[in-house]
Amino acid sequence: MKLDTITLHKAARFSGEVIPPPDKSISHRAIFFSSIANGRSTVHNFLNAADPISTINAFRMMGVDIKQDGNNVIVDGRGFHNLKEPINVIDCGNSGTTIRLLTGLLSACPFFTVLTGDDSLRNRPMSRVILPLKQMNAKIDARNNGKYAPIYIHGGQLSPIQYVMPVPSAQVKTSIILAALFTEGATEIEQLIMSRDHTERMLKAYGADIKIDGLKIEVTGGVELRATDVIVPGDISSAAFFIAASQLIKKSEVKIKAVGLNPTRTGLIDILSRMDANIEITNNEIISGELIGDLLCKCPKGLQAVTIKEDEIPFLIDEFPIIAVLATQAEGTTEITGASELRIKESDRISAMAIELKKMGADVEELPDGMRIRGKVKLKGARVNSHNDHRIAMALSIAALIADGETTIDGKSVVDISFPEFYPTLLGLIK
Ligand code: S3P
Repeated sequence: MKLDTITLHKAARFSGEVIPPPDKSISHRAIFFSSIANGRSTVHNFLNAADPISTINAFRMMGVDIKQDGNNVIVDGRGFHNLKEPINVIDCGNSGTTIRLLTGLLSACPFFTVLTGDDSLRNRPMSRVILPLKQMNAKIDARNNGKYAPIYIHGGQLSPIQYVMPVPSAQVKTSIILAALFTEGATEIEQLIMSRDHTERMLKAYGADIKIDGLKIEVTGGVELRATDVIVPGDISSAAFFIAASQLIKKSEVKIKAVGLNPTRTGLIDILSRMDANIEITNNEIISGELIGDLLCKCPKGLQAVTIKEDEIPFLIDEFPIIAVLATQAEGTTEITGASELRIKESDRISAMAIELKKMGADVEELPDGMRIRGKVKLKGARVNSHNDHRIAMALSIAALIADGETTIDGKSVVDISFPEFYPTLLGLIK
């Protein structure tokens, strides 16, 4: 049996130029909106990784003609009314975005579907989308009293709602918006804390009737989408690992090119600037409604501890594992709170990072809704585990580059979920 491991050593220097993989959130959304639009859309720079491929497979099962040529995808949209009932259960794999967004869309489509996923996905909460969709009259059932996948949907006519979101989640927001596109009348969604807003930006380009007023969103249904071409920017959540490595490994200099800098995604950069990092942003431009730019990242003199609270969490929700690694090398105590959402991601990321960083000698304390990390601590090589979570595997790989001795990461292939080229790219930057 082939062992799914990689062994990494301390790096003397980390430098070069990186074009990060395409954005995962935007890649998913481009397939969703193009599939239900009228006409042909081309998605340029699509993320060819396991999660967005789950989304493509789902729409193919519903009769959408999707041609993929590497990172370019041509979608012949079927409009609002021509998706077909799939003849089998739709397997969403590891992808929370696929299953939650599909639940919203399929609640409004007049046929029966069953959605499921892998062990991790079947243990992630689905009531956060099912409850508001039921308020819209959706006919949905799910395992364990409506909490977990498999999800059973008898799609039909829905009604608009007014909904105040109890959790700041872009997946929940998008699920409701997708359902709202099919209703007669206006759905109002109020966010208490902002979450990533790619859906709102993209839907305007597809011609939807969507109005934004601060934290309020109003979607008026019944307006068919028109096909449009999308250029997907680089994913800041994947670039995050190289940004962090550049701040941790002495004499490093890394240029990250054409990365998405949507302000709802750049919490890591804000945090790093509070930690005294050395990052310069250049070449800003807007592409397909999203801000992109280049980052020049150089190793700073030293990093300082930070305090991160609830209202910042959605802007760095996927960056927590790498922030935990950064915090081990910052002077002082870093405290992250208001982040209980991290316990229900692809793994329990609070527990996973606490367990694995402790094996490497870090001084970390698990909190119910976050973590306290005391630095700066010399990390030592160890045998660590990805917990079958792509972002944990990548964060531990960066920790390995600053640890004395040898670190072996078990379950490394899970990086294929969002960044199949992660290890070749990483090894190419180690000098
Ligand atoms: C995503 C939103 C976030 C994020 C996930 C992708 C999206 O989840 O963690 O990786 O594409 O909408 P939540 O919206 O549930 O916080």
